[in-house]
Amino acid sequence: MILFADPKKEYLFFKNKINSDILKTLSKGVYTLGKITTNFEKNFSKYIGVKYCVSVNSGTDAIKISLLALGIGRGDEVITSSHTALATISAIIDTGATPVLLDINEKTYNLDESLIEKSISKKTKAIIPVHIYGQSCNMSAIKKIASQYSLKIIEDCSQAAGTTFNKKFVGSIGDIGCFSFYPTKNLAAFGDGGMISTSNKTFYNKAKAIRQYGWDQMKSPKSNLVGINSRLDEIQASILDFKLGYLDELIEKRIKIAKEFNDKIDPNFYILPFQNHHNKHTYHLYVIQTKNRDKLLNEFKNNKIFAGIHYKHLITKYKGYKKYLKVPFKIKNTENLYKNALSIPNHPFLKKNEIDKILKILDRFKNV
Ligand SMILES: Cc1ncc(COP(=O)(O)O)c(C=O)c1O
Repeated sequence: MILFADPKKEYLFFKNKINSDILKTLSKGVYTLGKITTNFEKNFSKYIGVKYCVSVNSGTDAIKISLLALGIGRGDEVITSSHTALATISAIIDTGATPVLLDINEKTYNLDESLIEKSISKKTKAIIPVHIYGQSCNMSAIKKIASQYSLKIIEDCSQAAGTTFNKKFVGSIGDIGCFSFYPTKNLAAFGDGGMISTSNKTFYNKAKAIRQYGWDQMKSPKSNLVGINSRLDEIQASILDFKLGYLDELIEKRIKIAKEFNDKIDPNFYILPFQNHHNKHTYHLYVIQTKNRDKLLNEFKNNKIFAGIHYKHLITKYKGYKKYLKVPFKIKNTENLYKNALSIPNHPFLKKNEIDKILKILDRFKNV
């Protein structure tokens, strides 16, 4: 069986160290917000190239807490991509703000920055560029617009730990970065986890307080913030801190497989991922397009290969979400992608014979 992501294989690869770290952490007697978590926050800050990090319970919470810390809520608008995980949108709605969904660039699948200026209203407070599939958005263009209109940038880096734009890590380019450590991500927990990155001290202190009920460092009643509970636990932090040391190596494996796919999949039959020259694409997902996507998905399934669809349904189709969304323009590129996109397996633990099998099926499928 070949899966498009395989967290269990990652566990088995690191098993001995992870098992011993879990037992060590359990015997310490501190299970949330202890030294291990603080250490991981410091190490992640260093890796990304920011001054501060606040660990939280998920990528969704990272976005929500970032918005709350910026004072964004009811009556405000937040511009983002129409092609993202539902999580990005749920975090915005949860604060009371309105998500403004824009179409994507046809090639990179990232937010089309040429649409941003036309969508800015008096209510617009922030832009959330989502580095989809592991490739950075055009951050220099987005930063230019944000500074012109005094908007904050919250990068959704959930799929892009280790990704760079012009040699800078995503999460260090905007005002704030948000990461998910969901088990299939580039840097993955064995459970839920997330991180907020920033170099702004005021924002850091606010996000840290909101993470835990609104408490400041002294738990003083003078704190005027209302918060939630979104702590990363010490066990997940110990695993993540250890795996951070292997992040570059694991990303290189993803890139190597992606290169082989780029070289060997027929670009005359399939649309392959496009990489902008100023980007290091970490291929969190390797997404191809084909007109017969569902048939190909089935063909893979019949051969015990489980490809994925990211995503099956447009955000604008979700009944519960519809009334909260603002969609100022057509989202044609997003709609087209949703009909044809298929994430083929490309995790770091794929074996050569598995890669060959995937390639063989893709080749055979051209004549079906
Ligand atoms: C683009 C994007 N944003 C946000 C999230 C939310 O992360 P989490 O599942 O950790 O809440 C995800 C995770 O799937 C994601 O891919």
